[in-house]
Amino acid sequence: MLNWDDYHSEHHEISSATFVGQPSTGSSEEKSPSESSFRNQSMDIEKTKVPTGLEELEVGAGRVTVDEKAMINCRADLNQLVPFKYDWAWQKYLDGCANHWMPQEINMTADVATWKNNDTLSEDERRIVKRSLGYFSTADSLVANNLVLALYRLITNPECRQYLLRQAFEEAIHTHAYQYCIESLGMDEGEVFNMYREVPSVSKKAAWSISHTKELSDPNFQTGTIESDQRLLRNLIGFYAVTEGIFFYCGFTQILSMGRRNKMTGVAEQFQYILRDESMHLNFGIDVINQIKLENPHLWSEEFKEEAIEMILEGTQIEIEYARDTMPRGVLGMNASMMEEYLQFIANRRLSQLGLPEQFPGVQNPFPWMSEIMDLRKEKNFFETRVIEYQTGGALNWD
Ligand SMILES: [Fe+2]
Ligand SMILES: [Fe+2]
Repeated sequence: MLNWDDYHSEHHEISSATFVGQPSTGSSEEKSPSESSFRNQSMDIEKTKVPTGLEELEVGAGRVTVDEKAMINCRADLNQLVPFKYDWAWQKYLDGCANHWMPQEINMTADVATWKNNDTLSEDERRIVKRSLGYFSTADSLVANNLVLALYRLITNPECRQYLLRQAFEEAIHTHAYQYCIESLGMDEGEVFNMYREVPSVSKKAAWSISHTKELSDPNFQTGTIESDQRLLRNLIGFYAVTEGIFFYCGFTQILSMGRRNKMTGVAEQFQYILRDESMHLNFGIDVINQIKLENPHLWSEEFKEEAIEMILEGTQIEIEYARDTMPRGVLGMNASMMEEYLQFIANRRLSQLGLPEQFPGVQNPFPWMSEIMDLRKEKNFFETRVIEYQTGGALNWD
């Protein structure tokens, strides 16, 4: 097994070598010097690749110990969930499963009537519903694609991967929930699903998130250098702290405020369950980032901290612009400047969760009821609709 120092020195040698498209120089059985060095280098590159869990089985290899496990660049077998090292990750997986819900369990009848009756909702309220479904209907697909196509491969720990798989399924449920709302209300699907390409305040958020997954989704991307490990951290901050931690909050607050006023209660209930899942995604992401920091303190340099702060500030500003676009006037007992303060409050919270200094001194939470909703336990339904207990296989009817 390679040790960390070997890994670094070998990685630098290999990254400067060229393999792709190298022409074959001989046709005989005997390998020419350039071919055999190519083969040796190829074997070297295999050894230096961060394992994915799909490597050839090393029969008889030593058993995995807790000390060998690591969040990133781990060289221990990734197919063995136990022994656990990160109990918090396993616990979050269990908690996520305990919160299971499905969009069809929520009654949308009242919403359909409200949406179809032009007098029930104001133009501004309709705009909020449309924009929210417009942003979220594609945002959760983006998050899921980042998880599956970029992040999963690079987090080299089985218990965290177990949670990532659970989260990926929850993102599918969220996309399903938005689709279910759009379909139930009979909205123009083309308009809603294309909003992230057609409405500037929505596309700005989506484009910002995409810019943080681009390089990592390249199948050749590898961690293992300071630069690439920091790139992974930027992705984690960009998706967990900003996309799921800031970009979701204006829309969630607006729709939940609507539900509190007894309007669009079905949509609001869907959002309420989604918010509960999202706050767990956010907390998991923060734990992952902090654990990586702990194991790799050299990545968390002063310069990198500045960059992380900058990312949070950028995300906050983009979300404030979204708030202004979606609330040109006061609506539902709130307005854009109250939302601005709320987003700054949220940004401070994200910064301190990451061990960074708060950037908006003295801001207060103008919507304390949001925290109550986030702490909602499964058995306590905020809107006092039916208690949702997920039916497992025991409820199957075989007749
Ligand atoms: Fe989601
Ligand atoms: Fe999420």
